[in-house]
Order: sequence, then structure tokens, then C-alpha cells
Amino acid sequence: MSPLLRLDGLHVTLNVDGERRPVLHDVSLDVGAGEAVGLVGESGSGKSMTVRSVLRVLPGGAETSGRIDFDGADVLSMSAKDLRRFRSHEVAVIHQDPRAAINPVSTVGDFLVEALVANHDEGVRQARALVQRILSDVGIPDASRRMRQYPHELSGGLLQRVVIAAAIAVRPRMILADEPTTALDVTTQSEVMGILDEMRREHGLAMLFITHDLELAGAVCDRIAVMYAGSIVEESRPQALEDRPRHPYSRLLLDSRPRIDRVADRLEVIPGRPISAFEVGSGCALAPRCPYAEPQCTATAPALRPIGSGQVRCHRSEELESVLRRSGTEVRDV
Ligand SMILES: Nc1ncnc2c1ncn2[C@@H]1O[C@H](COP(=O)(O)OP(=O)(O)OP(=O)(O)O)[C@@H](O)[C@H]1O
Ligand SMILES: [Mg+2]
Repeated sequence: MSPLLRLDGLHVTLNVDGERRPVLHDVSLDVGAGEAVGLVGESGSGKSMTVRSVLRVLPGGAETSGRIDFDGADVLSMSAKDLRRFRSHEVAVIHQDPRAAINPVSTVGDFLVEALVANHDEGVRQARALVQRILSDVGIPDASRRMRQYPHELSGGLLQRVVIAAAIAVRPRMILADEPTTALDVTTQSEVMGILDEMRREHGLAMLFITHDLELAGAVCDRIAVMYAGSIVEESRPQALEDRPRHPYSRLLLDSRPRIDRVADRLEVIPGRPISAFEVGSGCALAPRCPYAEPQCTATAPALRPIGSGQVRCHRSEELESVLRRSGTEVRDV
């Protein structure tokens, strides 16, 4: 069965001061119906650009090649009418800042109801009832009072629940969540994430979940794709990634996580600085920072290839198996 969303050899360049700059390089990724896939990586690695490519909301002057298929339909060649329908019926987006997504001069209720009535031919009475029910599903007590309030009267955590309610209400097949909880405090973050996860599962929605937080991605996703400098360097199941990363960058990311049970003078940091896709030379993008780089790594760029139950973009993955593995982990085929 073909996946719900398929990115195949996606390349994106932007126009920066008259110059073509690559931001995504050969991004291939599948998300099945009802499946949650995490996209993790350092700042600037291309996570948001991937989501913006799917929605076709790239900055002006962007050029895209490769394929984006949603349920077999070619997103890159959709007409304006089909694209409108795709954005309002098939996918729903949740951004980091809920205030940017909500009209500040409408009440919460009007914002939610209007979106349903305008895009989904729902009667106002039915839409109100549906919205009220979904607001209580996402853990907003006293939903009818909240619907009469304005966004500035609600906390960030409550507002992000409103955005989740808006996403669920349109009955999409997929949620694109770009750092949906990064702007919230830690306790609110886990509550909101719990609700998003529960709603997604209850409604059988697929999700592309973008985060810096590997741990969080592991907790809510079926698979994780690790991005570096505009490319996916590894794709794996969360437990396999944790126990047996196949790419040196994944190992470095795992080691740079703060750990409460490990008192350290300072955190392990990834040597060097992350580079952008346009700075990548002819070899592997990680080579200048990779502790295991050899001449072949700077000479030729590795392709993304199947390994175990996932994929990796590294020439030396097999040779490095034992150094990349978490210490104390048995060699098992995962
Ligand atoms: N409007 C723009 N014009 C030029 N370059 C841009 C523009 N927006 C983003 N970029 C560049 O594209 C690359 C990918 O950016 P993107 O926003 O996808 O990163 P990200 O992985 O989402 O990072 P973060 O974790 O900080 O959100 C970066 O190098 C960034 O500087
Ligand atoms: Mg981003």
C-alpha cells in the first residue's frame, strides 16, 4: 500500500540576494496513514522548510524539484483549487506560536466556527456544537465560556489546545506539527503534547512531528527521521535509534542530550558548528565535524540507503556499528 504522504528526492532552492541557495537536498520520506513520524535535527537543518514544501508555502522565488505525493495526488502540480482543498481538508498545521495562528480580534468560538462554516459547509449551529465538544475533548473546561473569550484572555497552553481543537475539527487525515510545544513551559508542554498524541490516535490521523527533542519524538512517534544540513541522514524506529544509531550524527545528537542522572561539569557538545545546505561541499555534509571521517567521506556524498529496518546516509555505517552503539547494548537485528 502506498503511504499517505511521500516525499521523493525533494530538492528546494531559495533565491537569496540573486543567488540560488539549496535548503533541502534529496529529502525522501514516507508517512503512512495513521502513522506518526518525527523529524529532528539542529536549528537550520531544514525541518520547517520540509513542512512548508508540503503545504507549498515556501518563500517567494523558491524552486522545488522531486515529488510530493499525498494519497497518490501530486501536490507540486495541484491547481489553486485543489491546493485550497488539500490545505483545508486533508492536512492541518500546528505551529510553535498559537497566537500567530488565531485571529486576535475574533472570539475563540467565532474563530473555530468560522473556519468550519467557511471551508466545510457546516451549519453554524452544528459547527458550534462540534467545536464545544472538541474543546472539552482537548481538556478545556467550561468550553462555552472560553468560546466567548478573546485569545489574549487565554494562556499559551490553553491557546495551543484551541489550535489543536481547530486542527481536529476539520477532520484532516494528517497533522503537520512544527515544534507545537516549544514555546510552552515544561509542565504545560507535556500536557499539550499528551492531548495532541491522544487526539491523533483517537482520530487515526497521521502526523509529521517536528522537534529538537529526540526524547519527545521517541515517545510519540513510530519512526524518526534525523535531518542535517537539508538532508535526512538517518531514519529509524525510536528504540533502534536510541540503542543502535547508524549515523555518527545521530550518535552525536544522542550524546548531546542533557541528562538529569548524569552530573557533568559541562554537556557533551557536537564539535564544530552546524552548516546549512548551501555550504555542503562535494562529500558528506557531516564530514568536517565527524570524528570518523575518512578521505572517501570528503570526496563523495553518500546516498540514503536501506539498513536494518531503516535507512542511513553514511559510507561507514557498517564499519562503525560497534562504536556508534549504546554501550551495554547487545548486537541484535533491530
Ligand atoms: N526566507 C528565507 N530566506 C533564505 N533562507 C532561509 C529562509 N528561511 C529559512 N532559510 C534557511 O533555510 C535553512 C533551513 O531552515 P528551516 O527553517 O527549515 O530550519 P529548521 O530546521 O526548521 O530550524 P529551527 O529548528 O531553527 O526551526 C536555514 O539555513 C535557513 O537559514
Ligand atoms: Mg523550524
